[in-house]
Amino acid sequence: MAMKENIKPATGRLGVLVVGVGGAVSTTMITGTLAARKGLAKPIGAITQMATMRMQDGSEKLIKDIVPLADLNDIVFGGWDIFPDNVYKAAMYAEVLKEKDLNLVRDELQNIKPMPAAFDHNFAKRLNGTYIKKADTRWDMVEQLREDIRNFKVANNCERIVVLWAASTEIYVPMTDEHNSLAALEKAMKENHVEVIAPSMCYAYAAIAEGTPFIMGAPNLCVDIPAMWEFAKKMNVPIAGKDFKSGQTLMKTVLAPMFKTRMLGVSGWFSTNILGNRDGEVLDQPENFKTKEVSKLSVIDNIFEPEKFPDLYGDIYHKVRINYYPPRKDNKEAWDNIDIFGWMGYPMEIKVNFLCRDSILAAPIALDLVIFSDLAMRAGMYGIQTWLSFFCKSPMHDFEHQPVHDLFRQWRMVKETLRNMVGETAPSYLD
Ligand SMILES: NC(=O)c1ccc[n+]([C@@H]2O[C@H](COP(=O)([O-])OP(=O)(O)OC[C@H]3O[C@@H](n4cnc5c(N)ncnc54)[C@H](O)[C@@H]3O)[C@@H](O)[C@H]2O)c1
Repeated sequence: MAMKENIKPATGRLGVLVVGVGGAVSTTMITGTLAARKGLAKPIGAITQMATMRMQDGSEKLIKDIVPLADLNDIVFGGWDIFPDNVYKAAMYAEVLKEKDLNLVRDELQNIKPMPAAFDHNFAKRLNGTYIKKADTRWDMVEQLREDIRNFKVANNCERIVVLWAASTEIYVPMTDEHNSLAALEKAMKENHVEVIAPSMCYAYAAIAEGTPFIMGAPNLCVDIPAMWEFAKKMNVPIAGKDFKSGQTLMKTVLAPMFKTRMLGVSGWFSTNILGNRDGEVLDQPENFKTKEVSKLSVIDNIFEPEKFPDLYGDIYHKVRINYYPPRKDNKEAWDNIDIFGWMGYPMEIKVNFLCRDSILAAPIALDLVIFSDLAMRAGMYGIQTWLSFFCKSPMHDFEHQPVHDLFRQWRMVKETLRNMVGETAPSYLD
């Protein structure tokens, strides 16, 4: 069992390079982090900043007092986008936070300027960015991104870097032979097989090659392929994802375990959303929505285990819809209609109407994933970080393991991993 002494200390500056740094989630995460470290806002929703855990002796401590996490004051933000606007201007465009809140850290936000993106219009047809790299091949894209990472590290005097994808969802890319091994992936990048090598894969490859943790916040295939698992292991780098579990799926992964624990049956689950931000616009394109749909649909079967409980969950009709509706901007509205049944098969209905703010929910998740991935790196953990499934709609897993979707089981995985890192065990059944 690893002890705290085996975790390298979080000394020096941590560079956080965000792909899509001008997006709604990114600008909200960055603004909140900068405001929190000045004491001007509370980091609400961030497990790394606010959550506690019980220790073996029954005492309760903040997680950040149990394991050595990077201090918010040591974080330097940077990143890439397909638009050249600085983060202040981009945040004004995103319209998630009010101008008065952005003004709390205006100068710092204005100083964060994106680097030109690795982008291919065919992977997001609704986007027409101009601030993009000229690259002859995908391999060339990788080389340029690696150089960006190295330059940023030196220019900002960073000890460590984490790369986070919070950019738009790419079109659905099925897994093919090119994704099956590192050698095949590198060959396809060099031979420029553009249909199967998404730009996000270039960011992931570049990050891992630079010995930097990579997090996938969208449902893109990207780092979720055997070639990248192999590369991450080879380079001793943690990878995590996919798709921030922010709103509707968060509710689903809390409600579904309740039905299952009570042995109540479910015959149908219909989920629909209206959403008006740029994410909604990109997802309005069927090929991009397919990536999201696959991510959202897998949750229920995994929790209900219909093969074990056919009487309760053998015949569920599950449907997920996202509708682009500009007036709502980032303030998504989600409706769930759940048809359940109980004693002697009598039916009941539950309606959930969640008026959420997408980026307000996703921002702390993004920050937590960054901080925990950096911890994992210093603790010598590499490859897929299944313990970070808690934050993800579509937790990554290899072919031998099943993903865990139930939020409470996922929370246990977080706590178990953190305790293991410092040689602690759970206190009692009251954990
Ligand atoms: N908001 C949520 O609750 C939530 C939850 C889960 C997942 N996500 C995912 O997170 C991602 C970001 O969401 P958002 O609401 O901030 O979207 P957004 O459209 O506001 O931001 C995405 C940003 O990425 C940039 N971009 C696109 N392709 C790029 C590339 N190849 N390189 C660099 N930059 C690129 C865009 O210009 C934009 O600034 C989306 O994929 C979304 O599906 C969001």
